[in-house]
Amino acid sequence: MIFYPTSKIQGEIDVTADKSIYHRAVILGSLIESTSEIYNIPNGQDCLSTDECMKKLGTKIIREGNKCFVKGNNFYECSTLNAGNSGTTMRLLSGILSSLPFISSITGDESLKKRPMERIIQPLTQLGAKITSSNGKAPLTFYPSKLHATSYRQIKASAQVKSCFLLASLNAEGTSSYIEPIPTRDHLEKLLLLSGAKLNKIGDKIEITGNAKLNSFKITIPADISSASFFIASALLSKNGNVTIKNVGINEHRIGFLNAVKKMNGFIEIQDIRSNEAGEPIGNIIAKTSNLKAIEIEAKDVPSMIDEIPILAVLATQAEGKTKITGAGELRKKESDRIFSMCSELKKMGANIKEFEDGFEIDGKTRLKGAELESHGDHRVAMSLIIASTIADSPCKIKEIDCINISYPNFIETLEKLTK
Ligand code: S3P
Repeated sequence: MIFYPTSKIQGEIDVTADKSIYHRAVILGSLIESTSEIYNIPNGQDCLSTDECMKKLGTKIIREGNKCFVKGNNFYECSTLNAGNSGTTMRLLSGILSSLPFISSITGDESLKKRPMERIIQPLTQLGAKITSSNGKAPLTFYPSKLHATSYRQIKASAQVKSCFLLASLNAEGTSSYIEPIPTRDHLEKLLLLSGAKLNKIGDKIEITGNAKLNSFKITIPADISSASFFIASALLSKNGNVTIKNVGINEHRIGFLNAVKKMNGFIEIQDIRSNEAGEPIGNIIAKTSNLKAIEIEAKDVPSMIDEIPILAVLATQAEGKTKITGAGELRKKESDRIFSMCSELKKMGANIKEFEDGFEIDGKTRLKGAELESHGDHRVAMSLIIASTIADSPCKIKEIDCINISYPNFIETLEKLTK
């Protein structure tokens, strides 16, 4: 598809709902007998993968327009589950599969089958799960086991590993604890508290007691900060940028990108801050044309902006000075190797980039050129390149952009709305 430069990014938009929260709400709802109600649901393929897996296991999920009803049932034996491209589906659901009374297995698409699963196999095995894998990768097979409480100290920060552990612990005898090195998104903890789970946070330790009775819940999902970040970046970079994005989730562990942009001298304002039923903070984000300056990002900053680093790389090409990102090696294990994908594509546009094993350095600012680009089959790379193409000196042709449907099927439509 060809993308043309534009000199205006203006307007008020809604962006797709947060898929991190959706996966958690559906998986947790599947453990609860009465019906949970989820409003403002996202429609990306990853979310549909979670729906399909849970339905196959017996959960009743009914999507009606913008809302969804989830009713837990006794899980039943089924053929291999398929998480598609969704790492979150595979890793979180593994927490549930670990204690089923029958053999179950889960696989994914070619990209997901290359991603590391040892990080969940280890804590689940410590809880008593019996799992086989293909050299630490999917397909994963789970054998019936009785889980017991344990204490797990995680070395690499990961919200998926934490959530997997907490879900498995719900079915383990006794009180388990999980210690994380750097705080990560706590959407599941908030939902667990809402549904009455016995969960305690003490410093960096989360304690959770198994076999507690859970109550159904009703929530409205905030707009996704990760999806919003593309339009925020676009407004900052545009000659005439002024965008308002409504009802965006601003969970403290998800706003690393906003903090980084502010440090870069970007104009960001958050208005009308409030909370949803689960205690997720929400606000309307305003971003305007800005003269950006370089910043440094290190390991401790990474978890709160992990999915926004590709679009931050685009911003860095337009920031005065050297923007250096280190401690972000995890990006190589995402839907594509995002360090390589972004460095190689932005280089084609003329950006001045040095690639490191755990990050990159971008020397700005550079006028980006129109080029033939590749998404590497990665939705966030595709959307980042589309935003980069809006400020290039000539059109860009981007291959394989269908992958956008993984998280944001209406992305191009929303971007077009801002250019009119
Ligand atoms: C997610 C956590 C992050 C993120 C992913 C979604 C989640 O992964 O990159 O897109 O919903 O828990 P890690 O926990 O592996 O960093």
